[in-house]
Formats: sequence, C-alpha cells, structure tokens
Amino acid sequence: MSIKTATLNGVATIEIARPEKKNALTLAMYKAMADAVNAAVADPAVRAVLIVGQPGIFTSGNDIEDFMQRPITSDESPAFGFMRALLACDKPVVAAVTGAAIGIGTTLLLHCDFVYVSDEARLAMPFTSLGLVPEFASSIVVPQLMGNVRAAEKILLGDPFTGAEAVECGIANAVLPAGEVALYARRVAERFNALPPGAVQESKRLLRRARSQALLETIAVEGEVFARRLRSPEAQEAFSAFFQKRAPDFSKF
Ligand code: COA
Repeated sequence: MSIKTATLNGVATIEIARPEKKNALTLAMYKAMADAVNAAVADPAVRAVLIVGQPGIFTSGNDIEDFMQRPITSDESPAFGFMRALLACDKPVVAAVTGAAIGIGTTLLLHCDFVYVSDEARLAMPFTSLGLVPEFASSIVVPQLMGNVRAAEKILLGDPFTGAEAVECGIANAVLPAGEVALYARRVAERFNALPPGAVQESKRLLRRARSQALLETIAVEGEVFARRLRSPEAQEAFSAFFQKRAPDFSKF
C-alpha cells in the first residue's frame, strides 16, 4: 500500500509512500487518504492530522496513467472523495512538504490549516500544460491568496515556485531545512494535545464557514470542465508526451 497511516500521540499521520513513481496519487491512494481523514475525524484520540511525503518529494500529483486510463467521470471519483474529506475535516490538518508538490500536491495544501515547506520544496500547478484546468477551488483560492497577476503566472503559465514564495503569498507558514520540516510539522500538530478539542474544532468550522459554500460550488464547476478536459486531444497529447519523455506538441491545436 502506498499510503501509510499511523496514530501516535494524538496525531494521525498520512504518509504518501510511492517514491518509485514520485508519490503520484492513484485512485486507491486517494481512497486510502479519504478513509484515513474520515477515521481521524471519528477517532476522539486524534487531535490533528499530519500529511507527509518522502524525502525530496511530497507528491507529483495525480497519477498520469490513471488520468489516461481511468479518468474522472463524476464527483464520485476517489480524488473528489479525498478532497471532500479534507475540506470537511474539522480537526487541524498540518502538511509537511519535503520536496516537489505538483498539481493536486499544491492544490491540497490550499485546504490544509498549516503548511511547512522545506528549502528544497517546489510547488507547481501545471494544469494548462497538461491540457487541464484548475481543480478543487484553486481557481478562487489562488487569486485570493496571491492576487490575479501572480495567480496567472502560477495557473495560466504553470510556473513553479519555491517554498519561500509559497510563504510570501500565504500558501505556507514557514520554510525549514529539509531534514527538519517533518518533525517541526509534527510538533505543531502535537500542540493540539494541550488545547481543548471542542474549541479548536468549532473555531476551525467558523474560520471556514463564510467561504465553504463558494468553495463547494467552484469545485463542482471546475470538476465538470476538468473531466471534459481530461478527454481532450490536448490532454491526450500532454499525457503521451510525458510517458514518451518528449516535449508535447500543441502546434496542431
Ligand atoms: N504520474 C505517473 N507517473 C509519474 C508521475 C505522475 N504524476 N510523476 C512521476 N512519475 C513516474 C515517471 O513516469 C517515472 O516512471 P519510470 O521510472 O517508470 O519512467 C518515475 O515516476 C520517476 O519520474 P521522473 O520524471 O523520472 O523523475 P524526475 O526526478 O526526473 O522528475 C517530477 C520528478 C515530479 C518533476 C516529474 O516526474 C514530473 O514532472 N512528474 C509529473 C508531474 C505532473 O505533471 N503531475 C500532474 C499534475 S496535474
């Protein structure tokens, strides 16, 4: 199994562990992550959730083979199940980004409460270069966080950005040395053991209340376009080029 889970000292850890494929997320991995978040919410012993990757890689995003062979057809797909669970989680979620966070790897950070990035982290939302569009409310959260012109660089051009820039634009809390980020994030998660869980959870719900409807509506709109784009000739060219290790050719579109 490429998702490892463990609960220790009040913290439910979800570890993405598929290093041979740069932690690309398969349908089964989304399902396991959704189950882990839902189990953490249901377990009174859990005070916070921690999401971690592997040294040098948080996740390279959705498995591109799955995009080709098992594309999303509806909001019943496992990626939606996981993101719905993440958005609905009323316990604090802390992410430790130890390397590249691509596509949904960056998108999911927008819905965590605390994000710590290593000095080697590279975030990117290369949707357009894959023939795709923003997902899971990134089309509204990213411009809200960094303004329209920087959002255009990150989403229309798909420019990668460093952990320091992620901090500057409000996606991440702090940059830490690569060897320290996971432990630091765990210590933050463990701080919730000393706080009253009812107050924390009600506060998190209040922090998110005003925009939750807008997020869910945007996710539905984006999801329809995304599912259609996955089947587009542009996306098929991008996916084939990735596996053939060549540059895509969009000149014919
Ligand atoms: N889906 C499926 N397989 C992936 C993958 C993904 N998202 N990301 C990496 N892999 C696979 C590669 O195909 C390769 O498999 P192989 O060894 O069988 O050839 C293996 O993981 C290692 O990847 P590689 O590209 O050789 O590693 P790298 O260190 O040179 O580059 C990345 C790492 C993450 C920068 C690069 O793999 C990448 O850009 N991945 C795709 C990111 C992406 O576009 N994600 C989708 C966003 S919507």
